[in-house]
Amino acid sequence: MSPSQKNDSELSKNLLNLDSLDPVKVGRDTSTSNDLLRLLASRQNILACWPNLAYREPSFDFKLLRQHYFVCNSPDSVRRVFLEEHDNYDRKSPQMRNALEPLLGDGLFVSDGELWRQRRESCAPAFENDLLPDFSTYMVESAQELVTHWKSLLLSDSQQVDMLNEMARLTARIIARTIFGDDISDDEASQVVDGFSEYQKNIDQISFADAFGLPLLRWLSNPIRRLRAKRSADKVHTVIDRIIDRYSQSKKSGRITLLSLLLENNDQKKRAERKCPLNLSSTRNEAIVMFMAGHETTANVLAWAWYLLDKYPDVATKLHEELDRVLGDNLPTYENIASLPYTQAVVEETLRLYPPVPVLSRHARSNDQIHNQEIKSNTIILIIPWLLHRHELYWEKPDSFIPERFLNGTQRPDNFLYIPFSAGRRICLGKRFAITESILCLATLAQRFRPNVALNHKVDIECRLTLRPKGGLPMNLKLRE
Ligand code: HEM
Repeated sequence: MSPSQKNDSELSKNLLNLDSLDPVKVGRDTSTSNDLLRLLASRQNILACWPNLAYREPSFDFKLLRQHYFVCNSPDSVRRVFLEEHDNYDRKSPQMRNALEPLLGDGLFVSDGELWRQRRESCAPAFENDLLPDFSTYMVESAQELVTHWKSLLLSDSQQVDMLNEMARLTARIIARTIFGDDISDDEASQVVDGFSEYQKNIDQISFADAFGLPLLRWLSNPIRRLRAKRSADKVHTVIDRIIDRYSQSKKSGRITLLSLLLENNDQKKRAERKCPLNLSSTRNEAIVMFMAGHETTANVLAWAWYLLDKYPDVATKLHEELDRVLGDNLPTYENIASLPYTQAVVEETLRLYPPVPVLSRHARSNDQIHNQEIKSNTIILIIPWLLHRHELYWEKPDSFIPERFLNGTQRPDNFLYIPFSAGRRICLGKRFAITESILCLATLAQRFRPNVALNHKVDIECRLTLRPKGGLPMNLKLRE
């Protein structure tokens, strides 16, 4: 948001009403790049190593272990990398690819160049807006099942849940149903979810080094964990191959799923029309990409939203007022979303403060220049939503939770400043899906519950592949009065 946009009266009114409540800020560092290396090497929180200056500068660079890094920290520099010079910067860092390849193979998320372009073209139809109403029914059904489960917990006098865990189970169920529909049995679904968590657990140990591409740390990474990660990936592959095989032998459920859409693209005639071959192993890889990209990210947003709603009771009151007025006692539907702007603003503001993918990296293919600074080929470009979303030049009260920033009548932030889903050509394919899912799940659950963070629990952040509450989020369930 440019300084000139900050005059909006509604926004200013809300800013004035705020006291000094700040959601989790990390302790900022004031040190030199040597200390940065120390912090990275000790695997502390990757978001805590940025000095105050990083929240004010439009770009900066540094060197670690002879590797040059350039941080794009303004809308124009982000636009250059993600859009204008996409072909030079479409490649993820080699370390990121290495970390994910055992699970995703050559899937969309880690591919680049011509292969990425073809895969994107093959997968995009599965995310067209007209399919969302159908997928929304899975979202509301699954959230409603959680309502029933929470009510039964309250009846048995057990009030405390780990909200991060609850949200992870909810979004895993939704994405499993969306990808596989009824073609996946409960047992297969648990095997996939368990395989993913095991993979995540093992990969988490190396992802910190990998995110920055530190060769020394990679070399130090534990090979046994790598082997374990490979085994968990094999487990996931076996189950998904079996489901695809069953589907291909015509035992279809008849319901539209992401898998059915990918396999239809795989149909000989359609393949010829689209000129984008997607063989069976590619279909499997893309199904895995969608599961991985779409499950933990949404779970984290929902968990952070619960934390913020507890910390900002005035916001919670406005949210409840909207839900009661628009929905009454009815379950939300896809059609209701347009009438739930405040709920959507809560989701969008949560994504600003806690972007689930807080660090994005790219590998420069050839020389370039950004902000008069020479970028040599092989430089690693870092685009850090965490910094951009709390940048002091572009946001008023950057550390405060103000959903009104995203209401109609307030100018929306620049598309290359507010980037929870990335931006430009590689923007998240599941963006609309994820926003719809977050709104419908939050609406269904907040209609009935108002959970509070457990007394004496100090909420902190943890950044591995995604940004989540450290050690989970213990909350006490409470029915709304
Ligand atoms: C709140 C939830 C989500 C967030 C914050 C999120 C964020 C992102 C981000 C930042 C990227 C770009 C990564 C990069 O360029 O390095 C991405 C890519 C992607 N996301 Fe999401 N995502 C979410 C949910 C989903 C869902 C639900 C799906 C699918 C069901 C999905 C599918 C994808 C795919 C396929 C890509 C790769 C796109 C490409 O490389 O062309 N995401 N997502």
